[in-house]
Amino acid sequence: MSPTLRTRIACTVYPSPRAAALAVADELRVRLAGYPSLVLGLPTGNTPVPFYQELIRLHRASLLSLAQATSFNLDEYLGLAPGDPRSFRAWMQAQLFSQVDLPANRTHLPDPVEPAAAAEESRRYELLIREAGGVDWMLLGIGRNGHIGFNEPGSPRTSRTRLVELEAKTIADAAKTFGGEQHVPRRAITMGIGTILEARAIRVMAFGSAKAEIVQRALTGEPTELVPASLLAGHADVRFLLDTESARLLSQ
Ligand code: GLP
Repeated sequence: MSPTLRTRIACTVYPSPRAAALAVADELRVRLAGYPSLVLGLPTGNTPVPFYQELIRLHRASLLSLAQATSFNLDEYLGLAPGDPRSFRAWMQAQLFSQVDLPANRTHLPDPVEPAAAAEESRRYELLIREAGGVDWMLLGIGRNGHIGFNEPGSPRTSRTRLVELEAKTIADAAKTFGGEQHVPRRAITMGIGTILEARAIRVMAFGSAKAEIVQRALTGEPTELVPASLLAGHADVRFLLDTESARLLSQ
């Protein structure tokens, strides 16, 4: 069990990313057992991979079913062709959707439309979330610059789903997937910070020493739009799940 840390946002430190991922997956298993029609908010990235693997394991062992659940992903790149293997839709399909019983018509991501259609697509997405009754349980990762979803530094606390321009750091981090920075889309649609804050419960995973500095700023600094994850501080049910490396700059 982790020591009690002096942070503005509740956090638990696990010995490894896998231990944290198992704990988050177990929380979701218990929630789904009590309320099968849960509405989930889901992230992409390296961070949630062990979590998705554990969901698949639990599903195969008949310990977890998503048959009545609904999912909304945080974000999607713009300007990719539908079905592009580098899209977040394709990534989610490979990492989770194709391997669990979540019905295909209840897995939602923003469509990778052309930028001119982004405002309309953003409104559609917000409406879909509202019609589903809002997000019950939202899982997030955090970018090295503190972004959540693709809400880059400077994103307003009240922002809704919208078109965003990606920062250089974010583009650099995505370069490997796209075979070079020049191929990374410059724009995306993301749920806004206001949209994320309306989720009833929020869990944030951050692993590895490359995240230690931003974790420290997000958890111990004054909440500021310059560190989007720090804006989670006002939420009634939010928790960070860290490994020892991402927590190394937090003082006890
Ligand atoms: C991506 C996603 C975020 C994710 C973040 C961290 O760009 N839009 O939702 O949390 O970057 O990625 P990783 O988990 O690979 O460090």
